[in-house]
Amino acid sequence: MSHLPVSKTAAAVQPFHVMKILGEAKALEAAGQDIIHLEIGEPDFPSLPCVHEAVNQAMQAGLTHYTPTLGLPALRQKLAEFYGQFYHAQVPMERIMLTPGSSSGLQLLLTAILNPGDKVMLTDPSYPCNRQFVNLLHGQVISVPVDASSQYQLNSDLLQAHWQEGIKVVMVASPANPTGTVIEQTELVKMAQFLAKQNAYLLVDEIYQGLVYQRPAESILAHPNLPDNVLVINSFSKFFGMTGWRLGWLVAPLALMPILDRLGQNLFLAAPTLSQYGALRVLEPDALAQLEERRQAFEMRRNALLNAMQQAGWQVSVQPQGAFYVYWDVSNLTDNAEQLALDILHHAKVAVTPGKDFGEFKAKHHIRLAYTTSPERLTEAVKRITDYLATR
Ligand SMILES: Cc1ncc(COP(=O)(O)O)c(C=O)c1O
Repeated sequence: MSHLPVSKTAAAVQPFHVMKILGEAKALEAAGQDIIHLEIGEPDFPSLPCVHEAVNQAMQAGLTHYTPTLGLPALRQKLAEFYGQFYHAQVPMERIMLTPGSSSGLQLLLTAILNPGDKVMLTDPSYPCNRQFVNLLHGQVISVPVDASSQYQLNSDLLQAHWQEGIKVVMVASPANPTGTVIEQTELVKMAQFLAKQNAYLLVDEIYQGLVYQRPAESILAHPNLPDNVLVINSFSKFFGMTGWRLGWLVAPLALMPILDRLGQNLFLAAPTLSQYGALRVLEPDALAQLEERRQAFEMRRNALLNAMQQAGWQVSVQPQGAFYVYWDVSNLTDNAEQLALDILHHAKVAVTPGKDFGEFKAKHHIRLAYTTSPERLTEAVKRITDYLATR
């Protein structure tokens, strides 16, 4: 065969454009250059030693078989308690399902509710994979352009202004990638209530839950009068620092659990067993105390980066409140953020992510900076970029 056939939906899937930057950064490093990485969307900290010990023990005990598709009952129960203790949310374990990363949770939920042609509202910019998931299911993405005027987030006015027939689900993330901004709980609940009247779902991505600064960590699930159209995904990747363990979870209405169970049985059988034993350990109080120290480290990094950016006179149109990202408005510097990112890499030796990875709206005018490195390296990065910009 001259070329091997692939499906139209697969062929249309977009890559992460930042991979080009990452590839070039790696090549520069191989040639002996010192590159500061601000493009990577994962904590630089490794997972906690106590997780490794627990997983070793599980391995030694031969706990290497499949778990039930919904996950280890003990872990589902522990997550239910975690919601009660830290978020004052009553979430019975029967509504919780472990998934291989929240990536699978997102796919599973969308597979459970979308018919071909159904519309899904999301923001531009937003986490890029969501658009791909919708396309793979032959759904239709309804993009709502957002900028600094709404904190780069959806709110109930914007939702209603962009409302159209056929929307089955609205996807939001709080805190969000790439902007680190939060949607206030009252606003989320208003959106859920509006959508309930339209017989549509609100899917809230709480993957950066816990990584918030100068404000309490929250979950929409804590609201007492929440309609039953709210779906939540979460993960052990970010706050818990376990990206490579590929473990997340979802919370869905009881009525959807049998179908999610059935879909999970067919799509992945179960989330990784050893990762689930690691997660049981990471939810213990001593581990959570260590994660709180890491959150404080992220807060210091955030402050260091924002201070350095402010002193350099860069445009930061909104103050990020969570995650580990700053969405830098470079409209005063370029109409081509992708080229600027490449120039910054080659001349300032700092790797950053162009806005193009997160959508189209004002993407040419934004760059995402991830503060997943030390305050010293962050300040150094801003200095290097400033020195380079002065030479242009
Ligand atoms: C907003 C958001 N949602 C979901 C994910 C998926 O993460 P994971 O599959 O590691 O849980 C990411 C990863 O970066 C993300 O930024």
